[in-house]
Amino acid sequence: MRVKSGIEGLDELAGGGFPNETVNLLSGPAGSAKSLFGIQYVYNGAVDFNDTGIFITLEESRDSVLRAAKSYGMDLEALEKTGKFHLLDFGEIRTNIDMDQEMELGVVSFKNLRDFLTKLIQKTGATRLVIDSISAIGLYYSNMDELRRELFAFCRFLKSQKVTSLLITEAVENHKTRFDVEQFVADSIISLGYENVDGEYRRTLTIYKMRFTKHEPYKHPFLITKTGIEIDSEEIIY
Ligand SMILES: Nc1ncnc2c1ncn2[C@@H]1O[C@H](COP(=O)(O)OP(=O)(O)OP(=O)(O)O)[C@@H](O)[C@H]1O
Ligand SMILES: [Mg+2]
Repeated sequence: MRVKSGIEGLDELAGGGFPNETVNLLSGPAGSAKSLFGIQYVYNGAVDFNDTGIFITLEESRDSVLRAAKSYGMDLEALEKTGKFHLLDFGEIRTNIDMDQEMELGVVSFKNLRDFLTKLIQKTGATRLVIDSISAIGLYYSNMDELRRELFAFCRFLKSQKVTSLLITEAVENHKTRFDVEQFVADSIISLGYENVDGEYRRTLTIYKMRFTKHEPYKHPFLITKTGIEIDSEEIIY
């Protein structure tokens, strides 16, 4: 079964959409439209495919996400009233789980999030999930081995919950991700870029890996239009 993003041009590059119940990594530098991609994934899911979605925002506030979505014509507040969409920021997570010392410092751990999500997924019946971003969770860990173990356990947990998830992560250089472990545990990696192509700055999207399906491996340009991301699946950037 495929979970369609509904993002113009993407599903055909991915052989029809994300294989269901997979953990998918979306990586890119600052300002590369990662959050917008995530918002469209859950918004389209609810509006076009009747899938309930959860968007966890750990870097931006709820209001900031609502405002960004609105500028592309997506009314997330109205969608929340239908029960098909749930937007939660750090503040809401903090008030809904047992506080511990680390939470007071403003950082959430994978375990905190797992406890919170178990209840939320059960209550809402969500099948799509976005976490923006897991780089923010990584700050909780000072030990890389522990981070790797926790992230691995978290990915397994997500699959057991039968959700198709999108984990957003910051890219530091080329395709290196923030903690350099995310790419091994995820089922797929989509990389967004903003780069100089023959003297012109262009936004790009590349699918580096996708388990359980054939996918198109080339780099494609995309535009941000007034309704969001539009990928040109015909044009390839070499
Ligand atoms: N209405 C709009 N039309 C076109 N482009 C826009 C519009 N609003 C924002 N942008 C562009 O979208 C980009 C921001 O997208 P987004 O916030 O999704 O990126 P991001 O990768 O999540 O960034 P960050 O690393 O800050 O989290 C900005 O670079 C901005 O240039
Ligand atoms: Mg963002």
